[in-house]
Amino acid sequence: MLKVIRTKNYDDMSRKAANIIAAQVILKSDSVLGLATGSTPVGLYRELIRGYENGDLDFSHVRTVNLDEYQGLPREHDQSYYYFMNENLFKHININLDQTHLPDGTNMDAEGECGRYHELIESMGGIDLQLLGIGNNGHIGFNEPADAFADHTHCIRLTESTIKANARFFASEADVPRYAYTMGIGEIMTAKKILIVASGKAKAPIIREMLNGPVTPQVPASVLRFHKDVVLVADEEALSLV
Ligand code: PGA
Repeated sequence: MLKVIRTKNYDDMSRKAANIIAAQVILKSDSVLGLATGSTPVGLYRELIRGYENGDLDFSHVRTVNLDEYQGLPREHDQSYYYFMNENLFKHININLDQTHLPDGTNMDAEGECGRYHELIESMGGIDLQLLGIGNNGHIGFNEPADAFADHTHCIRLTESTIKANARFFASEADVPRYAYTMGIGEIMTAKKILIVASGKAKAPIIREMLNGPVTPQVPASVLRFHKDVVLVADEEALSLV
């Protein structure tokens, strides 16, 4: 079942989404959280940091697996997702860094790295709560529109629209990595709960597709309608066409 929570604006979205993650951590202190990067979750990570600082949240037993990572970027690169997670969340809370995981972008053996990551997720007993953003083309993680839903972690070539969307973070479009490792739709769908966040007018057309269009790998996020416990927290602008 997909529940939609409509919020006034980005800050309201961030607080409500953070509260859902906070509840998960309070209820199960050793939760496996599936985490996401992108501009949308930054505000909710800020709220989680606040929750830690004021003593409401303890992350010392929390374990995390991130959705994806660019292939070829070292951890120190300021556009690597490792760097993002550290800057926007991990270094501000009492999480044990040994219990945080991302695909290793520097491992150029794609098959080996994807297999390792899949086994890692399984060995953690699966994901309790998976956080997702949504791309303008409906991607979740780096699962781009495709002819079929990918099951496990795999290496993908970014679509031109994603390369363009992400070019704003790099010196030039040519610097955007062309490949990434991403969890598969199958791994995402086996998470016990899913929380997807969206903000702003630019997301309105794809949110409408996700909620009302056909379930198709051409709109990867549409598959979430087949999950039993999904919450979409989105602001009025993102929901303006629904
Ligand atoms: P954004 O990215 O949060 O920066 O819009 C979302 C995504 O591509 O998953």
